[in-house]
Amino acid sequence: MATSQNSQDLVDFGQKHVTKGLARLTEAIITSGEGSYVNLHDGRRMLDFTCGIGVTNLGHCHPKVSKAAADQCMSLVHGQCSIAFHRPYLQLIEKLLPVMPDPSLDSFFFWNSGTEAVEAALKMARQLTGRQNIIVMQGGYHGRTYGAMGMTRSKTIYSEGSAPLMPGVFMTPFPYWHQLSMLPSTSEEELVKLSLYQLDLVLSQQTAPRDTSAILIETVLGEGGYIPAPTSFLQGLRQVCDKHGMLLILDEVQCGFGRTGKYFAAEYSGVKPDIMIIAKGLANGFPLSGVISRKELTDKLKPGSMGGTYAGNAVACAAGVACADVMREEKVLANTEARSKELFQALHNVRENPAIRPHILDVRGVGLMVAVEFSSPTASPHDPVHSPSSPKNLASRVAKRCLEKGLLILTTSVYEVIRFIPPLNISKEDMAKGCKIFGEAVEEVVKEG
Ligand SMILES: Cc1ncc(COP(=O)(O)O)c(C=O)c1O
Repeated sequence: MATSQNSQDLVDFGQKHVTKGLARLTEAIITSGEGSYVNLHDGRRMLDFTCGIGVTNLGHCHPKVSKAAADQCMSLVHGQCSIAFHRPYLQLIEKLLPVMPDPSLDSFFFWNSGTEAVEAALKMARQLTGRQNIIVMQGGYHGRTYGAMGMTRSKTIYSEGSAPLMPGVFMTPFPYWHQLSMLPSTSEEELVKLSLYQLDLVLSQQTAPRDTSAILIETVLGEGGYIPAPTSFLQGLRQVCDKHGMLLILDEVQCGFGRTGKYFAAEYSGVKPDIMIIAKGLANGFPLSGVISRKELTDKLKPGSMGGTYAGNAVACAAGVACADVMREEKVLANTEARSKELFQALHNVRENPAIRPHILDVRGVGLMVAVEFSSPTASPHDPVHSPSSPKNLASRVAKRCLEKGLLILTTSVYEVIRFIPPLNISKEDMAKGCKIFGEAVEEVVKEG
């Protein structure tokens, strides 16, 4: 039995029997987690700047959240949503209503994962408009099920060898200098203008407005490189949607629920989505996602068209209720803002080092969804920031060095990008510790060349 073996045997067992289709940051076993740290089988205690990919936003095993889930386990685990209401589902809606980016978002459907919620949003958009096509962003990531995968444009690995993909998906550039073949110094205004023009072309050359149900965008591009959508771009999308009777769907799976320093990133622009998708931090690790829209729209859906055996599970919803309470009681947004300032300052300090400066193209993000982009000698020769003098694979090498120094941190996108997603309630000391490790790792890797 694998469970009776020692830890190294267990790792070997995992390598033999867990599908090769999974990638892993480290070949280790996480044995426990507490706050901003996880413990590994070999005794290492790691500062966690991954949060399980933006999920454990209140730290591992937050006592109030874990207790709420444990208590719920003793009263009702599965109150299936197509059989009856259950209390945690309704209580969660009650907690979320006041923090919605717009009061018009008043109709909720909970599911388990982000990708399922994306599927539900797509289905709703098609049913509500009677139109088949959808426009997505270059660099966008929405999940690994077939519809979501078909709308993902961040990396080919997610759909390679899996065709045919869902038809009716059209792509337009996100206003990110790198994708538009521009320099990092290009003004936001210019990037937005270029991107909105490309959208106009998509609508005149590829998918007619009368065939197009929705535009789907991450309010902060995640797997595509951690780039906040500029307010003027979101406003432009809103105008296009209003003009043509299309729906605007904001995917806040990664950037929502406090990650950016506001409950939802949409608040920064004030742009109202017709549908908003949430997940990840919503229940601090319990599988829970949500699709939120206007009652006026969802009243048009046929009963039974939405559902799912485990959708809106009672234990996950109870954890979600506790998360909402903790966010408020522990002033988590204020902490996010304070730690965000320190993180940006620390990253700018790293960049000030004359040995490092030529190799950092960008420091960006919002709240505690922050990225550093390095230059690359192996970038496409057509890339205007192709940089033959930079060390190779800086992002993955820096992430590996951080790991050796006790910090879990992830890369993202097809470019050389490191992403910072620490817990939103991380202490000042742990933020400083993580930044110090990162700075040392960059310095060492750059020196090695
Ligand atoms: C923006 C965004 N949408 C959707 C998803 C898919 O969520 P899940 O992995 O829970 O299916 C993710 C996951 O990283 C995401 O970042």
